[in-house]
Amino acid sequence: MTVLRSYVTHLECSFSLKHYEPERLYNLSDAGRPLIVRYDLNAIKAAVSPEDLLARPQDMWRFEELLPVLPHAEIVSLGEAWTPLIPLPRISVKFGGGEILVKDEGRMPTGSFKARGLALAVTMAKALGVTNIAMPTAGNAGAALSAYCSRAGLRSTVFCPEDAPETTVREIAFHGAETYRVNGLISHCGELVAQGVDSQGWFDFSTLKEPYRIEGKKTMGLELAEQLDWDVPDLIFYPTGGGTGLIGMWKAFQELEELGWISKKKPRMIAVQSTGCAPLVKAYDEGKAFVDEPWEPVTTKLHGVRVPKPLGDFLCLQVMRDSDGFGVMVSDDDVSDTRAMVAREEGFHLGPEGAACLVAYRQALKAGRITKSDQAIIFNCGNGLKSDLPPMDRSIDRHETIDFGSL
Ligand SMILES: Cc1ncc(COP(=O)(O)O)c(C=O)c1O
Repeated sequence: MTVLRSYVTHLECSFSLKHYEPERLYNLSDAGRPLIVRYDLNAIKAAVSPEDLLARPQDMWRFEELLPVLPHAEIVSLGEAWTPLIPLPRISVKFGGGEILVKDEGRMPTGSFKARGLALAVTMAKALGVTNIAMPTAGNAGAALSAYCSRAGLRSTVFCPEDAPETTVREIAFHGAETYRVNGLISHCGELVAQGVDSQGWFDFSTLKEPYRIEGKKTMGLELAEQLDWDVPDLIFYPTGGGTGLIGMWKAFQELEELGWISKKKPRMIAVQSTGCAPLVKAYDEGKAFVDEPWEPVTTKLHGVRVPKPLGDFLCLQVMRDSDGFGVMVSDDDVSDTRAMVAREEGFHLGPEGAACLVAYRQALKAGRITKSDQAIIFNCGNGLKSDLPPMDRSIDRHETIDFGSL
């Protein structure tokens, strides 16, 4: 991919709508809110059409006009190929539902969709002169940051809460980041990053505190629309923590509509959270524009959604409202049962957050919030093998007489 020009016109504060110069390094806006990248969509419309994409590699960079990559920047890539849509026909029959397609992001480099956001954000940071990046993370984002920084020849420093999954913490360290467990929550890890910005020269990569990860996550929506032949599904079930994917995909659909590449129809965006941490579902059901108080206590083992008060709460709630979507909270026990059922009945290994989306689908169907005729996309954001599996404790003593009939 050689980007000849960037179509970015400016960045915009998601709250005050104040404009900021493009092609610069930013964290939050002056108002302390996330910044959003804006493009000259008319110029893009004149320069490229969906047919032009057909000759390009099937990866996230094929949408280069809709990405903020600077001209002649070195793309930091580990091979972010398209992820497939996998149907779950038996589960659909079992649930009495309609078409269910899993968007399997577990096939991305480092085993999760975080690769999309971090590939783009690290590409931008490197092009804009950053050399040392720091991040608080409970897992997958840290693994992707660490890998892409090593790929780019940048330093990275990662702080993980002490209850972050062991496999992912090891993965982060293995890819080369200076990695630390912190006796506290993700918010405490974020405070450590903020403290080191001046003294250590770190660039703060906390969720939504730099503008380009959203653009990387946006490619999930662009890709999905192209895979469905420039149509969109009726429903998107998305496991929502910080909400970057929810915000990014909605932005993708808005941009595609303005380009005229899709019709006015857009999916209903359904935020899936856990009964052990569901600040967005609660705020949405109460008709709030923000999450008032951080969710307490956080009891879920669904690491991807353990965010008590997301920085982009108002943006997620707006997406849910504008798309005629809603929120669903699911229990960890239902998630474990469903994950095991799908593995056995469909041969497909969902991560816990992906299984949570399927539980949410079933609940929404039962409650009459969706119908059988809806086409539903379930986001499996991380590879199932990154999460714990139930024990397997049967063994055979080959020196004893084996009763094969009892096996
Ligand atoms: C597997 C998985 N699912 C879902 C999420 C939530 O993603 P987002 O921050 O886009 O809401 C995460 C984030 O850590 C994750 O790792």
